[in-house]
Amino acid sequence: MTSATHSPKILVTGGAGFIGSHTVVALVEAGFEPVIVDDLSNSLASVLNGLRAILGRDVPFYQANCNDRAAMQAIFEREALTGVIHFAAYKAVGESVAKPLDYYQNNLGSLLLLLDLMNEYKVHNLVFSSSCTVYGQPEHLPVTEETPRLPAQSPYGNTKAIGEDMIRDAVRANLPIKALALRYFNPIGAHPSAEIGELPLGVPANLVPFITQTAAGMRASLTVYGDDYNTPDGTCVRDYIHVVDLAEAHVQALRKLSETNADASYDIINIGTGRGETVLNVIKTFEEATGVSVNYSIGPRRPGDVEQVYADVSKSNRVLNWHTTHSLAEALRDAWRWQQKIGAKVAAS
Ligand code: NAD
Ligand code: WQD
Repeated sequence: MTSATHSPKILVTGGAGFIGSHTVVALVEAGFEPVIVDDLSNSLASVLNGLRAILGRDVPFYQANCNDRAAMQAIFEREALTGVIHFAAYKAVGESVAKPLDYYQNNLGSLLLLLDLMNEYKVHNLVFSSSCTVYGQPEHLPVTEETPRLPAQSPYGNTKAIGEDMIRDAVRANLPIKALALRYFNPIGAHPSAEIGELPLGVPANLVPFITQTAAGMRASLTVYGDDYNTPDGTCVRDYIHVVDLAEAHVQALRKLSETNADASYDIINIGTGRGETVLNVIKTFEEATGVSVNYSIGPRRPGDVEQVYADVSKSNRVLNWHTTHSLAEALRDAWRWQQKIGAKVAAS
């Protein structure tokens, strides 16, 4: 037998997406055998070429919708899985307000089906993509996992809160699932090879893709949403984490789950850097790291934005034995390399 046959097989739902594809790389590098299922609703099949260029081999890929019971059952039947990382979800906050039922169906229907199949096929380990959005505007910073969740500001945010609760309740009822919900802060950057990265379709809502597209000349100017917040320079503060560091946290989460002796367990862990950065500092750091200037102006606040949020990372450091190793400047440099590689290919509508 080859060593590959012994590698723990992990189903990576949404593995063609931004965070999923970087996690696939980290998994292979750590000796796991990822199996991707993705319906390509928010990604391109060319991601598989990028993965091949980095890894020197193909990664098993199923193009299927995670809400399709027959398709998912066939994957569980065929692959001897030891764990699942559930990335697959719709994630556009604004769109979720316009199409709430699509979001509940896609994000929660898929999770429900996965829990059912994991139970049926005795696949015990689950890592769930949650989000710092569940904290809303916390009273105290940095945010620990004990910080109370606040009512969700959008159906998208609500799918993350409900998703966490669905897993918690299943574990409470002794469904044999060991699960970690990772609450990501703001993932940015790209693989340093520039073979994979973020592919925002249309006009980016997130800061860093907007910066790189503006720097590339695809957008005339970036609007900074408000400079009258109670922060060091008046602009909002976030915890921007390099996607390669975030990917590594998933490897550590799977390792942690496989060491956990209980039949059923559930825990929540913040995944961030522990550092808060203002919007203006992100722009300045981008300019310094790349030598490219960004045309921007100050505009009004964006409705729904929280003033500041950044993670207390002591639990992730302790429980996962994991630390970030990339700086903001590296993340922005890698995002820029990726932008230069893709150019205007996925340019906007
Ligand atoms: P992404 O859109 O790049 O990746 C998600 C992938 O899932 C896409 O490739 C998409 O095609 C696929 N997908 C969606 N619904 C599917 C379905 N029903 N069946 C099969 N595939 C499906 O998003 P991302 O940024 O990589 O986010 C991954 C996860 O992390 C999501 O659950 C998201 O909510 C969560 N998250 C993201 C961020 C962020 O800022 N990017 C922050 C916190 C949490
Ligand atoms: C970052 C900062 C903006 C664009 C979103 C989701 C959240 C989570 C992470 C998934 C803010 C400012 C942005 C621009 C700007 N995703 N900004 N001009 O808002 O922290 O969170 O992604 O779970 O749910 O809401 O990220 O990248 O949109 O914004 O000034 O053109 O950049 O106001 O302060 P955010 P973001």
